[in-house]
Order: sequence, then C-alpha cells, then structure tokens
Amino acid sequence: MKHLIDPMDLSVQEINELLDLADDIISHKERYAKVCEGKKLATLFFEPSTRTRLSFEAAMMELGGNVLGFSSADSSSSTKGESVGDTVKVVSCYADIIAMRHPKEGAPYLASLKSDAPIINAGDGGHNHPTQTLTDLLTIRREKGQLSDITIGFCGDLKFGRTVHSLIKALSRYDHIHYVMISPEELEIPEYIREEVFEKKSLSYEQVRTIDEVIGKLDILYMTRVQKERFFNEADYIRLKDTYILDMPKLKAAKEDLSILHPLPRVNEIAVEVDDDPRACYFKQALNGKYVRMALIMKLLGLEA
Ligand code: NCD
Repeated sequence: MKHLIDPMDLSVQEINELLDLADDIISHKERYAKVCEGKKLATLFFEPSTRTRLSFEAAMMELGGNVLGFSSADSSSSTKGESVGDTVKVVSCYADIIAMRHPKEGAPYLASLKSDAPIINAGDGGHNHPTQTLTDLLTIRREKGQLSDITIGFCGDLKFGRTVHSLIKALSRYDHIHYVMISPEELEIPEYIREEVFEKKSLSYEQVRTIDEVIGKLDILYMTRVQKERFFNEADYIRLKDTYILDMPKLKAAKEDLSILHPLPRVNEIAVEVDDDPRACYFKQALNGKYVRMALIMKLLGLEA
C-alpha cells in the first residue's frame, strides 16, 4: 500500500486492519503520541475543506508529527500555472506524506505518478473520497458492530456526492447489504455506479423518491447535501437544494437503533433538532475521521506504536 486514491485500492483485510488500528488508537491514545515524531504531512487543498483538512492536520499532530500546506488553490503556485505533477514533486522534497484535495477528477492519481511520498486522495471532484469512506466504515462498524447484514439508505445528491460513490464501492465487498437510494430523478447515482457496482455484482438495491416510504426499514441513513459547487445552473440548485429535510416527525417511523450519518457540512437537510436524538451520529463520525486518518498515516508510513 503506497498511495490511497480510490477506496478499492484497499483490500477488505487492509480496511479491517485500519479500522482495528483506529479502534485501538481511540482506546489507547497515549500510546500513539510519538509515533510520527520527526515526520511531516503536507495538506495540499486546491478546494475548500474544514473537516478533512483539519482532521488530517489534527491526526498528524496527535501522532507527534508536523504539518505544512495550503488551504486554497489561490495561495499556491497553481495560480502561476504550475502543474499538479510539478507541485507534488516539489512538496515530496519537503514532506513525508501528502493529502491532496482537487476539484478535478483524477488529479490525485496523476500526482501519485510523480510523487516519491505517499499521496492520499482527500477528495477529487465528484469522484472519490476514500478517507471519508474509512471514516464512514469505522462509524458504521462502531455503531452496528459489523459491516455486513445492513439496510443502508443514501439520501440527497447521489449524482455529485463523492462520499456516496466511494462508500457504495467499499461496501460492495461486504455481504447482505441492501442499498436504498433516495433522490430526485435529476440527482440519481451515476450510470457507472449503477452498472459497474450494483448490476455487475448483483447487489440488492432500490431507488425511491421519498424518505417516508423507506425510513422504517433502514439501519443506517446516510444524508448528504446537494453539491452546489458542481451544478452548472444555479436555478437547478435552488430548485433541488431542499428536496429532503430530515426532522423529528420524519424520524417517528424510524427504527430505535437507526444510525444517522452525514459526511458534513450540513446545509438544511437535517433539522438541528435531530442533533440531540441518540440516533444522530454525524458529529461522532467527524471525530472518528481523525482517528482513522491517524491509522492511515501510520500504515502508509510503515510505522507502528
Ligand atoms: C464531503 C466532501 O468534501 O465531499 N465533505 C467532507 O469531506 N466531509 C461532503 C460534502 O462536501 O458535502
């Protein structure tokens, strides 16, 4: 394992090892405080981020390492016309490991071909977001005790939501999962996910238009925001942005042990009143993201506690 570009770069065994390590870090934080002493993580964020960038930086700091980087394309040499390949060639002289977010699909992959340091894809356009997927898998496993035998609903922008695409791919290797895809027609999952994942692997899935018709059977409800920045036309965004709002009346029909996930940021799709319900897991999920990134940094650098 050298780079992490696509969630399928990791075998099921590697995922399980990463999640086990994250669980151990959560239980024994003090044992890991010096694992990355003398190491540097560079965060190259060509697109905005709060959780992903800061959780990477916090992860490295909690491992005793240092961080450097930039948080927008405007403050990097890409504004002067430098290629992503050249940027990472230079940054790999300064850092031991690189986390990169880029609006163009495939940019972290191109970067990985040029870099001597491991590259972690921290989100590429509407494509993949493998570290959010690890975060989601850790959260599901901690909440449900397993990654198989679940009915999971994905709700919102299933077309542009990269976290949805990556999590569906990763879960496709676990048994007995039923996928319930809740979206308006315009925001259905892309054809390539339907054909290459659901149909090719004969997975059990359904597509519906409302939360109400399915909420009672879900073990996990993965809410997402409508991805404003990927729309070509603002009028379409405005028309679709509030299609789904999860509130307490909607939750009346849900299972007692439903887990509500959201990669965040939330816009309107989950009412704030839901935050106090024990089924709301999204802030715990954000915290899990830091621990699983600690595990990933250790694995890619070949370090042990
Ligand atoms: C997600 C992303 O960047 O794709 N955010 C995150 O990393 N937690 C989801 C989103 O922006 O909607």
